[in-house]
Amino acid sequence: MNKFIFDIVLESADICNLVADAAKLTDMVDRGSRIVFTGRRNMGKTSLVMAKVIPSYRARHAEGLVVVVDLMGVRSLGQISRRLQLAFERGMSLVHPTRTYLQKMANTLRQIRPTMSIDALTGAPEFSLGLASDGESIDFSAIIAQIGVFHREHAALLVMDEFQDIAEIPEAEALFRAALQYLPSDMPVLIMGSKKHILANIFAAPGAPLAGWGQQIEIATITVADYVPYINDRLKSVGAYVDQNVTAELLKQMSNNPEAINIIGDWWQRHRTGAGLLTGNDIYLAIAGVVRERSSLYGEYLSQFTAKEETVLIAIAQCQPLKAPQSADFRAKVRMSPGGLGPLTKRLENRAVVYRTEEGLIIADPLLAAWLRTR
Ligand SMILES: Nc1ncnc2c1ncn2[C@@H]1O[C@H](COP(=O)(O)OP(=O)(O)OP(=O)(O)O)[C@@H](O)[C@H]1O
Ligand SMILES: [Mg+2]
Repeated sequence: MNKFIFDIVLESADICNLVADAAKLTDMVDRGSRIVFTGRRNMGKTSLVMAKVIPSYRARHAEGLVVVVDLMGVRSLGQISRRLQLAFERGMSLVHPTRTYLQKMANTLRQIRPTMSIDALTGAPEFSLGLASDGESIDFSAIIAQIGVFHREHAALLVMDEFQDIAEIPEAEALFRAALQYLPSDMPVLIMGSKKHILANIFAAPGAPLAGWGQQIEIATITVADYVPYINDRLKSVGAYVDQNVTAELLKQMSNNPEAINIIGDWWQRHRTGAGLLTGNDIYLAIAGVVRERSSLYGEYLSQFTAKEETVLIAIAQCQPLKAPQSADFRAKVRMSPGGLGPLTKRLENRAVVYRTEEGLIIADPLLAAWLRTR
């Protein structure tokens, strides 16, 4: 039985559409472009890159080095370096560098003693930079430079996910700029992130160190026509199916968020056996069911917000999409002054709890929004 998968990075077969995005990214990576790939939480960015773009790069560059680093939650330059170092070690493990190459690397980075070995348990090849585990790490700039060196001899691809999280770290943007600008001009670099407004500050604000770096691409939204066969393929084993109308309603209620849609699909798979054509009422039942299942989790989550933040979150959930968060109406509803409300919504946006769409402000997780409306 094909399942609705959520909470994890998908394999290729579980990705609904995004075919055009995959082709575009693959093509840009092939041409050695610098790319900033954005889209809000749970839209499938990481899945698309891990399951389609990287495998297709590997297929064309058997000798290629792929370094994938997730920068989510980094708080210091040291943490960035440590993550990049581990990512580099993982990438190098797969490319079997020669002894000569290791020697050359050791000559450029004095504090390292790079080695290749075989993991005794799994038999997998393992590359290590040979740093003392309690010692200081190598600067991420030096590691990025090493990736460039490898690219000059063979081929390399650098992928950095959740890149916006460097924004809070003093000097990080300037150091990344310095490191990235000395890479070979035909080496592909793919940066991903979910907080568009922070990425805009990094890559678009005039005067910012990385302003104008790379080409920006926003992930496509998946359409009703794509979803109908995807959902029906997964519901057929339980004797249920959807049509265009109910799918359109589902996409609307789930703010077109693929993860939330999968969670509803999973609920149907567990509860709507033999239900035939599903209706709007089935959406209602599924949302209510999921919200009940997740209630204590959401309660726990909400407890980390202040009372004011909680009031605003509930109010946004009730009005979303909220066109004018600063309007007198909305301020009256949450009993706040413009001076208090502005920074508070900004904070919620920075934490990716709320998200700005063309239609207005929404709670990023549509199921959390549904739960908030029951409060
Ligand atoms: N194209 C898709 N088809 C089906 N499900 C999808 C798709 N894209 C995303 N999802 C759902 O979203 C979940 C998260 O996907 P993924 O981690 O790739 O998103 P992301 O955009 O990288 O999110 P984040 O910004 O949180 O890192 C998946 O487990 C899946 O449930
Ligand atoms: Mg991701």
